[in-house]
This record gives sequence, C-alpha cells and structure tokens, in this order.
Amino acid sequence: MQIAMIGAGYVGLTTATCFAEIGHEVACHDADSERIRQLETGELPIYEPRLEEAMRRVVASGKLRFSRSGADCVSGADVVFLAVGTPAMRDGGIDLSQVEAAARLVSRWLKPGAVVAIKSTVVAGTCRRVREIMAEERQSLDFSVAANPEFLREGSAIEDFLCPDRIVIGCDDRRSASLLSEVYRPLTERGAPKVLSSTPNAELIKYAANAFLALKIGFINEVADLCAQTGADVGPVAEGIGLDRRIGPSFLRPGPGYGGSCFPKDTCAFAATGRDRGARQFLIETLIERNEKRKAALAGRVIAQGGLRKGSVVAVLGLAFKANTDDVRESAALTIAPILQKAGLRVRAHDPKAMTNARQWLRDVEWADTAYEAAHGADAVVVLTEWEEYKNIDLGRLACTMSQRVVFDYRNLLDPRAVAAHGLIYFSLGRPPVSPAGKSTRGRVSALAGTRRRVAAPARD
Ligand code: NAD
Ligand code: UGA
Repeated sequence: MQIAMIGAGYVGLTTATCFAEIGHEVACHDADSERIRQLETGELPIYEPRLEEAMRRVVASGKLRFSRSGADCVSGADVVFLAVGTPAMRDGGIDLSQVEAAARLVSRWLKPGAVVAIKSTVVAGTCRRVREIMAEERQSLDFSVAANPEFLREGSAIEDFLCPDRIVIGCDDRRSASLLSEVYRPLTERGAPKVLSSTPNAELIKYAANAFLALKIGFINEVADLCAQTGADVGPVAEGIGLDRRIGPSFLRPGPGYGGSCFPKDTCAFAATGRDRGARQFLIETLIERNEKRKAALAGRVIAQGGLRKGSVVAVLGLAFKANTDDVRESAALTIAPILQKAGLRVRAHDPKAMTNARQWLRDVEWADTAYEAAHGADAVVVLTEWEEYKNIDLGRLACTMSQRVVFDYRNLLDPRAVAAHGLIYFSLGRPPVSPAGKSTRGRVSALAGTRRRVAAPARD
C-alpha cells in the first residue's frame, strides 16, 4: 500500500520506517526542510535505538523515501498519516495548529478515496475538526478521516511499534476501517490485538491511557515517600502490589517525577478537556501539581540533606527525561539544575546522549564528557536518568574522585550496600538509608559540612 507520513519527528520517523519494514511503500515529508536534507543524506536528527540501521535498510530497499514536497508525498498515497506535534498551550489546552496546517496541506494533494489518519495525540473531536477543514479547502473531494493514536515509547519505539499491546483504529466509515486494517494486517496477523472503534473513542483512549500510566507513577512516587518515613522499602512493596494481575508490575518505578514530551502535556490536555466539557478530572489535576512539586522537592532534598554550601559542586548525571533517548523535554534535570544554581551551587552535568539538546535549555552549567569527569571534586552526585552506564558506574572510582561523598540516586539504580561499602553517603527513594558507618543517614550530612556558608533549601512542598 502507498503511505504518506507527514511529520518526521520521533513518531513520524519511527512509524514511517516500520511501515516500510512491514512491506508498504512510504514517502515521508516534514515542514522542516533542513530535517529532510539531513534524512536524505542518511543522518538521523534524533537518537532512537535501532532506528538508524532500520531506516538505512528500508531506504536502500526503496521502500522509504523523504521529500521536501508535500504534493510529491501525498498525491499517490492511499493513506496519509499525520504525525505532527501537538504541544501544550499556556492554559494546558492543546495547540492543534500543526495538525490543522498539515490537514490543509494534505487536502490540496489528496487523491479521491484516500484516508487521512491522525497519529498525533489529539483531543476528542479533532477528527471531526480536520474533516471540516479539509472539506472547506477542497469541497468536491471524497475522503475519510480516522484516528490512529500511537502508543510507542521513546527508547523502545521500534519494538513497541512492531509488537504493540494493541492497535487502536478510530473510524466513522467502512472505508477507513478497511484501509487501516489492511495497513496493519502484517502486525495483526502476527497476533497484535486490534481495537476498532469510533474516532472520539480512539482519541480518548490515547489520553486516558497516558493519564492512567502517569497516575501509576505519581502513586508509586508518593508510596516511596511513605516507605522512607516508615522504614519500608519501595522495591519489594512495588513488586508485591505489581504481582496482582489487576495492577500489573510496570510503571511502578519511583523517580524524580515523570517527564518527556508526552505525559506532562497529555495530562494537562486531559485535565483541560475535562474543565472545558464540565467533567473535571480532579485526580489528574492533583497529579499534575504533585509531579511538578516533586521535582522541586527533590532539588530541596539535595540541598538540605547534602550539607551543601554556596559554591559546592553538584554533579548531575542524566539530562534526558529517561534512558535511551536524547530527548530532554520536561526532564527532571531541567527543573532541578536551575534550582540548585539559584541556591548558589555549581552544577556540572553529564548525559550519554542528551547533552546537545540540554545545552539549549540549561545556562551556566559545566559540561562533562564522562560521569567521572562530572563527579571529579564534586560535593554531591545526583542521578536523574536511569542510564545503564550509571547503573554500572565504578563506585570505587566515583568515591575516589569526589570531594564530599554524597550520592542522591533518584532512580534507585544503585545497590545501597555496595554504595555504602565504598564509603559513600547514599540517599535514594523510599529505601532504608545505609551509611558507610552503618548509621542512619536520615536528615543532613552535617559531618560533611565544610567551612563555606550553608545554603538554604527551598521551602518544602
Ligand atoms: P516531534 O516534535 O518530534 O515531531 C513533529 C514533526 O512534525 C517535526 O519534525 C515538525 O517539523 C513536523 N511538522 C510540524 N508541522 C508540520 C506540517 N504542517 N507539515 C509537515 N511537518 C510538520 O513530535 P513527536 O514526538 O514525533 O510527536 C508527534 C505526535 O505524536 C504528538 O502529538 C505526540 O503527542 C504524539 N506521540 C508522541 C510519542 C513520542 O514518544 N514522542 C509517542 C506517541 C504519540
Ligand atoms: C509515554 C508512554 O509510555 C507511551 O505509551 C506513549 O505512546 C507516549 O508516552 C506518548 O504518548 O507520547 P514516553 O514518554 O516515551 O512514553 O516514556 P515513558 O517510558 O512512558 O516514560 C515517561 C516518564 O515517566 C519518564 O520521565 C520516565 O522516567 C517516567 N517513569 C516511567 C517513571 O518515573 N517510572 C516508571 O515506572 C515509568
């Protein structure tokens, strides 16, 4: 089948590549002509594991091509996917301008009988709106609009696309149901479940799924804080509740608050839709507030528990919003590093993949090429992203290179006993504290305080 992909970002590039892998002829267009130029030369504008090899393979086989021309991409396509951005507006609502612009572009070149499938995450009613826009642009055109939300995660995007938990197709007519079912046949034949529903149902499934997953994270983060106050360990607690099949084990890892290009904006859009339509989503509204406060509160803990002084050096390990991506959108580091700086601390930062992106957002940071370089002479290390290389860090080398030896592990990556065995003072999330001397490390590390003036921690949330 001939497919056009509008938008060559994380979702557009991955899905275009995967559609080509499963046998379709795909043409991909992006409004950013520099991005298309890069892609034409085989360069990937994003980091996503396995994507580069897969993309090169399908380009070489002639199944995938890139084009600066919307007309060239769209005119021969049976199905046109829109995978453009849907950022949040100031009030938390969704900015549909990219979707609307893409709909106008597509309507000019679409062949009669073709289907436009919205892959971007959009609020209920967007398919109807896109249909109206396109009908205004080309009144005599016979076409269909469908919702086909995407559930892939950055960092495992290819596996998620090719082995999905489900494929959701929202359509209001037979043509789009049958064409989209055909597009996904190679996956459904291999056992991927298909949910065929109406367009508003599909639109809402996507938001409700993200909101629910974010709630699970918010829940376990608060449970972790309770564990810390009660002497319990969030690891076994999460395992114990996750074994209940009604709950499930995933998304129960405590962290510094969820980030990324999706959960923060999608929970806000979900809440905004609830307010607009008179069905307030109070749980999600509270979650959004608690998630933001968590990032600030963890910065406060570094200052309060680390016994830090003005001018103390903090090594921030991990700038991406999670491991295996170079994406820093709404990452914990972007909130935590400026709070530490505001308190008079020097921030040194490292990330295996996200330094280039982080440089656009963080100011006055000292950039380090390795985790050890970041930790050299540092008073505290704060782990914010669960990169494998931090999990496998050489603790002996870390302990030798640091000045004061305080480690804040906000991903519970390290083994508390191994850290303590190397003489490091260790703080993690919701796990009993272990100090090098076997004493409790609750509260401040006053013994480590030097002669510099202690900085005030921001108010507790
Ligand atoms: P992105 O910002 O990485 O990519 C969007 C691309 O669309 C950009 O390259 C931009 O130049 C291009 N674009 C914008 N307007 C255009 C137009 N009119 N014509 C052609 N190209 C245009 O965004 P993304 O992360 O790929 O997300 C896209 C959508 O998919 C969003 O709605 C997002 O919520 C959703 N989504 C994202 C993920 C994810 O993991 N990133 C997963 C599932 C769903
Ligand atoms: C998320 C969803 O998982 C995808 O299904 C969805 O398609 C996507 O949003 C989207 O709609 O765009 P993604 O943002 O790539 O995917 O990353 P996740 O793995 O979901 O992580 C999101 C955030 O939650 C990260 O900051 C991560 O560190 C955090 N997280 C995740 C936790 O703190 N604990 C967990 O147990 C899981």
